[in-house]
Amino acid sequence: MSFVRLRDRDGDRRGFFRPGCPNVSKRIDASNGFFTGADASSTLSICASDRSDMHSFRTDSQFFRDALERIGKAEDLRPVPSPVPMGPERRETDQIDRKEALSDHRELQPARVIGRLVALNGTQGVISCPLTAGEGDWSVGHLITIVHRASRLVGAVCEVATDDGRWSESASNAARVTIELNGEIIDGPDGAPLFHRGVRSFPSLGALAHRIRSDDLRAVYTFRGQRGVEIGRLSQNEDIPAEIDVGELIRRHFSVLGSTGVGKTTSVSLLLKKSLATRPKLRVIIFDPHNEYTAHFPGLAQIVDSESLELPFWMFKFDELADVVFSSRQPHPDERDALYEVIRIARAKYQAELSSLAGTSAVRRQPIAEGSSVTSDAPTPYRIIDVIAIIEEWLGMLDQRFPRSDLRALRHRLEGLNRDPRYRFMFGRLVVEDDIAKVISRLFRIPTRGLPVTIVRLAGLPNEVTNSVVSVLARLAFEIAFWCSGTYEINVLCEEAHRYISSSSGQAFGPARLAIGRIAKEGRKYGASLGVVTQRPSELDPTVLSQCSTMFAMRLANELDKAIIRAAAGVSASSTIAFLSSIADREAIAFGEAIATPMRMKFADISVRAEDRQAHISGERDSDPIDLKKLSAQLRGEA
Ligand SMILES: Nc1ncnc2c1ncn2[C@@H]1O[C@H](COP(=O)(O)OP(=O)(O)OP(=O)(O)O)[C@@H](O)[C@H]1O
Ligand SMILES: [Mg+2]
Repeated sequence: MSFVRLRDRDGDRRGFFRPGCPNVSKRIDASNGFFTGADASSTLSICASDRSDMHSFRTDSQFFRDALERIGKAEDLRPVPSPVPMGPERRETDQIDRKEALSDHRELQPARVIGRLVALNGTQGVISCPLTAGEGDWSVGHLITIVHRASRLVGAVCEVATDDGRWSESASNAARVTIELNGEIIDGPDGAPLFHRGVRSFPSLGALAHRIRSDDLRAVYTFRGQRGVEIGRLSQNEDIPAEIDVGELIRRHFSVLGSTGVGKTTSVSLLLKKSLATRPKLRVIIFDPHNEYTAHFPGLAQIVDSESLELPFWMFKFDELADVVFSSRQPHPDERDALYEVIRIARAKYQAELSSLAGTSAVRRQPIAEGSSVTSDAPTPYRIIDVIAIIEEWLGMLDQRFPRSDLRALRHRLEGLNRDPRYRFMFGRLVVEDDIAKVISRLFRIPTRGLPVTIVRLAGLPNEVTNSVVSVLARLAFEIAFWCSGTYEINVLCEEAHRYISSSSGQAFGPARLAIGRIAKEGRKYGASLGVVTQRPSELDPTVLSQCSTMFAMRLANELDKAIIRAAAGVSASSTIAFLSSIADREAIAFGEAIATPMRMKFADISVRAEDRQAHISGERDSDPIDLKKLSAQLRGEA
C-alpha cells in the first residue's frame, strides 16, 4: 500500500494519507505533498502499513487533528488497524511502540519531531529535515535524540546544510544535519531517563529524530547515583546546570586552556572554591606569575610574595640550587662538580657540629659519622659562609683538583647571591635554623588555620629563580602528600604552566618539569594533584597535559593549540571541539573523568555570587592535625 506524504505550509509537521480519499487528495499538491486548504470533506481515513508509519501517525496526530479540525472532521481521526498479522515478535515491538506512544503522548510536542535518519555509519548519522527560519535547535553543538526501540539515541549536531545550498526565509528548507552519536537514554523503572555512554544497537534508516526533551538533556549531563557540583549552566539550555564530580576533578588532575582574557583565572578560581567547599582535607598552592589570584580568594588564602617567602637554600636539591647559582646557563662540568662537593662538605660539617651539641633536640642528636654519608640533596641545613670558606681554602691549596678560575667564579657568584636583597628569601632569615617545620607549615597550610590556599606570587621574584622555586614547592607538595599517606590532599595549580613545563626540551627547566611530572604521574595515589592553566597548550609538555583527565577548553584560535585539544578529546567529543575558536568568553567545552558527558557550558557569573567568595570551610579542617615534627624528620630522610 502506498502513501502520500502530507505536510502543512510550515513543512515541519508531516503525516501520510491513503490515496483514494478523494475529497482530501484534491487538496494535496502532488509536487510537494503540501496540504493546500480546509474543506468540509466527508471522509478521511489515515492508515499505516508499517511501524515507522505508525510512529509518524502517532507523533503527527496533533497535525492531523489540526488538519481535520480545519476540514471539520476531527471525530473521524481513527487509525486503521495494521493489515500485518501479529506474531509474538511483532507484539513485543508493538508493546514498545505503545510505550513510546504513551511517552510521546505525555508531552505531545509535534514541534519536537524534526526529521528522519537517512544515512548512518558507526559514529555519525545524517538526518533529513525541513528547517525554517529562527529554528535554533539545529545549531551545531546542540543535542537531538533519535527514537530507536525503547531507547532514545543521543547525537550532537556537528554540521548543518540545506540540500540545495539556498535559504528561504518564508518557506521551509530541506536540510541535511550531520550528527555524532554519543550515547542512549533509556527510561528507568520509575520513568526517569537514564543516560548510558555509547550505543549498543543502531537504528534503521527512517528512524525519527526529535528535539531533545529537557529531562533527557538533564540526564545526559548529570551523574547517576551521586550529585555533581554545579559550576555553571549548559550553553544549549540555561535551565540545566553544568555539573562536575569534584573528587574526580581533584584526584585525576585538570587543565583549563584558552586564549588570553577568556576567563581562565576566574573559572579556575571557581573550580577550586567549589572543590575546597566539599573537600575539607584539600589544600591548594597556586603559582601565580601575574598576581591575579589574590582577589579571587579573600579570606581563604595565605599570600606569599618575594618579601614574605621563606625558602632556605638548603631545602633546594642540588639541581635546583645549581640552576639558581649558574643562572640557567650551562655550567662547566668542573664548576658543577665543585659546587656539589663543596655543598656536601659544608653540610657534613654543620651536621657534625650539631651532633656534638648533645641533647639539644631529637633532630639534632642525629649522628653524622662520616662526611661522605651526607649527600648534596638531603634537605638538611648548612651555612653558606661555610661553603664560601671551603672554596677559599681550596683556592689556597697548591694541589687543587678544580680549576682556580671556576672556583673563583663560584665564590663570586655565591657571595653575590648571599648579598642580593632579591634572594633574601633563600639566603636570608632562616638560613641555618633547622626550621623545615616552620617553612612547610606556612607554605603548605599545616594546619590550615582557616586559610587552605597558598598563593605564591612569582611576579616579584628574580626571573632566573622562578623555575627553581616552582620545582622546590612542587617537589615538597608531593613529598608531604606522600608522607601524610591520605590525611593530606594538595592541588598544585600551575598558572602559565607552559613557562615551567614547556614542551621544548631546550626551554624546559629539568627539575620543575620532573617535580610536576611526578605529581602528574604518581600524585593521584598519594593525594597530590595538578591544575594546569595555559593559553598555549601546544607549548606545554604533552606528558603532563595527557595526565590531566579533565579538560576545560575555552576559546582558542591557534590551529596547533586546537589540534592538541582535539587529540585529547578523542572521537567522542570531536564535534563539540569543532567550534573552539568561536565560543564566547566564560564558555568552555568540558570533557573528561569529572564530566558525565562532553559539554559546552558557561561558567557561573562569580562576580555576582557573593557566597562563592566565602566558600564555607568547615571547622573540621584542623581536626586532623598532622605531626609536623615527624613530617619534618621524614622529609629529611630520617624516618
Ligand atoms: N565566570 C565569570 N564571572 C564573572 N566575570 C568573569 C568570569 N569569567 C571571566 N570574567 C571576567 O572576564 C575578564 C577576564 O577574565 P580572566 O582574567 O579570568 O581571564 P584570563 O583568561 O585568565 O585572562 P589572562 O589570559 O589575561 O590571564 C575578567 O575581567 C573577569 O572579571
Ligand atoms: Mg589569567
